[in-house]
Amino acid sequence: MTNSFTTVGPDLMLPELLEAHPHVRPILDRYGLRGCGGSLGPAESIEYFARVHGVDVRQIVDELNAAIQDPDSISSEEQRSAGDSLDELADTIYRRFFKAGIVVIMTAGAVWGAILLLRIGFKGSFTALPIHEINAHGHAQIFGWVGLFVMGFAYQAFPRMKHTSLWRPDLANMTFYLMVFGVFARALGEPLFHIPVFRGLAVVANLAEVVAIGMFLTIILKTLLSSGKRLERHDGFILASMAFFLLQAVYDLGFLYATTAPGMAPERLLYLVSVYQAPLRDLQIHGFALLMILGVGLRMLPALFGLRAPNAIAVRVGLGLLVCAVLGEATMFILMRRYGGPFATGGLLISMLLIAITSVGLTLRWGVLARPTESDRSVKFVRAAVIWLHVSMLMLVLAPVYMYVVLPAVESLSPSGHRAVEIGFSHAYGGAVRHAITVGFISLMILGMAAKIVPTLNGVDIRQLRSLWIPFFLVNTGCLMRVSFQIGTDFADWAYPVTGVSGLLEVAGIGIWGLHLWRIMAGWRPVADAAVQRPSRITADDKVGWIVQWFPATLPVLLAKGFAPLQSPILRRTLARAVSLRAAARQHNLDAEALVAELNSVAGLARDVDGSHTKRHEQQDHTVARSDISLPVL
Ligand code: HEM
Repeated sequence: MTNSFTTVGPDLMLPELLEAHPHVRPILDRYGLRGCGGSLGPAESIEYFARVHGVDVRQIVDELNAAIQDPDSISSEEQRSAGDSLDELADTIYRRFFKAGIVVIMTAGAVWGAILLLRIGFKGSFTALPIHEINAHGHAQIFGWVGLFVMGFAYQAFPRMKHTSLWRPDLANMTFYLMVFGVFARALGEPLFHIPVFRGLAVVANLAEVVAIGMFLTIILKTLLSSGKRLERHDGFILASMAFFLLQAVYDLGFLYATTAPGMAPERLLYLVSVYQAPLRDLQIHGFALLMILGVGLRMLPALFGLRAPNAIAVRVGLGLLVCAVLGEATMFILMRRYGGPFATGGLLISMLLIAITSVGLTLRWGVLARPTESDRSVKFVRAAVIWLHVSMLMLVLAPVYMYVVLPAVESLSPSGHRAVEIGFSHAYGGAVRHAITVGFISLMILGMAAKIVPTLNGVDIRQLRSLWIPFFLVNTGCLMRVSFQIGTDFADWAYPVTGVSGLLEVAGIGIWGLHLWRIMAGWRPVADAAVQRPSRITADDKVGWIVQWFPATLPVLLAKGFAPLQSPILRRTLARAVSLRAAARQHNLDAEALVAELNSVAGLARDVDGSHTKRHEQQDHTVARSDISLPVL
């Protein structure tokens, strides 16, 4: 069976190809396979691999067929390096970044955010908590959640897209330790800044992050240069995003230093925050995260899910507009707060409008209007993320209408709603817009993309995995509750406790998703995989449910011996998978060894004279196992 084909077509799955012709691996490595998916590669077809890696499928198929006909065309040197590349640091480095990202969000990130939100809910005020605690959470999310995922993904995917190797994986590894130190030391140091040593710790932490991000940029640029490839349209977005990543880290260092200065008067702190904090968030969220997601999305979403790419001119113009608009948004806000006047206010409004129109325009066919050609568990996350982006952009451009038309027109406002009208700024509305984009858009996109990438890189067939509807539902419901009821606090105080509990739903959803991916990265394989790995002989310790699945010919024998529950397909897949043949035999007063021999015999696994089982039976097993795998839908 395994060596039965001598030509390949686009539909052949990589594991089948590599199982039958392992010597062709260097060809796939050349186009960026490398350690992806382990020794047999990911569970994807040659056509899909070519699409995702940006190669002409006919070219790959021709090269593979030529190598199958003439195995000597691949040098032994190439063969050796293909084997060596399987466990290289560069191929697995993403794991530590992703795992650390999950740890951050489940500690200093979302979990801390949920605790802050519960306290806000109980106190009935968004301004009652110390700003340094809130900012430490925001920092952990941007650097530790978004930043670590982006870095891990870039180290893994960028060299593959460019058909080259990562430049200096050892330095990339060093950026990991610098970032992790930075995120946790800052989370500790910033809230305790009034103790000098902790302020110092927070500043050093931020410095470490600036160095790490500078190194990250250098590594990616060197990798790009070493590939000798031309820049593609989406690369502009990715490079611009990385520049914003560095810029915001430097800005953040200055902001941290200023807002933690010893003995500062509260009015001065309020002034600094009211002038300089929003531009920092603009650089982080619209500059770094939005541009990165757009760049990766333009390259990957059409290839992975068949989502339609926007036209080339829109992409080129969109990049220029977005970069100018983000810089404009940040600068005009500072000018407006410091000097006032129609120029700065108008400039800010135009910048916000440009960001909204461009980002919605570029993603128009990825949300409500999406027509994906691949049905995949990640598609719903991607579409929901894009819908949240559109919601947050609509809310952003409607902010003046909310402030100057809606709020003043409503008579029964809450105390915080009245205050918003007085000062011309609603903290509740601004926070809701931000949460819609940070959790709704950015985080759902990370959840969806990682749910696709992690199994693929670990050689797990995604169709055998849970569809992740529960985390999807929890995160979306939590986000919807937060966004709507946070705005509701401008109108009624009872909305505070409701928004307060929304964080628990989000944390639960992200926790379930995180555990699922962590287990895959740690080597866990879905149950159906066990069916593929059926043994070459049945033993008394095998579970009855699995024996029947591996070797259907054993079912009539077991039924005839009184194993009546096996008549039910559901019991075969559930209860019977927990009962060993030995235990079942004991229950029915049967001799376990005699039963084992009989089952091996009907399964065609009887030993030959030399002790091995026959080739004919091996082939039969293979076919049975492949066709009999049941794929869980949830
Ligand atoms: C998933 C659950 C999350 C919860 C429960 C949560 C909760 C909170 C709370 C209560 C605040 C302060 C409220 C306010 O000032 O309006 C806050 C602020 C912030 N959050 Fe989150 N958050 C979550 C996720 C995220 C994510 C995923 C990000 C980034 C990707 C993020 C970034 C921020 C930032 C930057 C701030 C500071 C905003 C400012 O400048 O005032 N949060 N979060």
